[in-house]
Amino acid sequence: AVPVIAIDGPSASGKGTVAQRVAKALGYHYLDSGAIYRIAALAALRRGISWQDEAALAKLAQELDICFLDDEIYLDGEIITEAVRTEEISRGASEVAVHPALRRALLNLQQSFRKAPGLVADGRDMATVVFPDAQTKIFLTASAEVRAERRYKQLIEKGIHANLAEILQDLQTRDARDSQRAVAPLQKSESARLLETSDLSIDQAVEAILDYSRA
Ligand code: CDP
Repeated sequence: AVPVIAIDGPSASGKGTVAQRVAKALGYHYLDSGAIYRIAALAALRRGISWQDEAALAKLAQELDICFLDDEIYLDGEIITEAVRTEEISRGASEVAVHPALRRALLNLQQSFRKAPGLVADGRDMATVVFPDAQTKIFLTASAEVRAERRYKQLIEKGIHANLAEILQDLQTRDARDSQRAVAPLQKSESARLLETSDLSIDQAVEAILDYSRA
């Protein structure tokens, strides 16, 4: 089977950056599954579908015309890379992600990213649901305070006004929603390695994952 490195963990744990670097180092494809939930939330908003309407969201998911190309994300041929990163869509992604029918409808799309020579898949349920047979499973985490500080610095660097206390509050709300939902809650797969990155640099986290994948 085509090898998969599944990397799961909470918001702002550094998963995205680390997963992309691992993919680059190995020449593997990369799946940002969070982006897929973001796209679903954006597409629903644009078509006037409520983030609570499970049946309509599942139907919408079957019709999504998505493309990831050269670091850009396309929806119906239009670049939406920035549009899916707003706070509103972050909240929408976390709200639509609670619906089992939507999660099921997005399964094939996510699995279609598994292509030779290999895939690094980043998300909440990569090891538990989408790629249960992944060769390498990592649960990447860091304390809520460290994650809030990382996100705060990212925003300030981009020149975006940010409030550390609000970011921490928002992270904790989303962590709670992700870990308490009935289907595919955020949790460490029994067979996953725990990688606590509060005291690790990005390079150190990347190296640790490359080491695990060779073991
Ligand atoms: O940037 P951040 O880590 O906060 O979010 P993301 O990885 O882009 O994911 C956005 C939302 O999608 C999360 O809050 C999760 O609720 C949801 N998600 C999920 O349910 N399952 C996944 N495999 C990936 C994301």
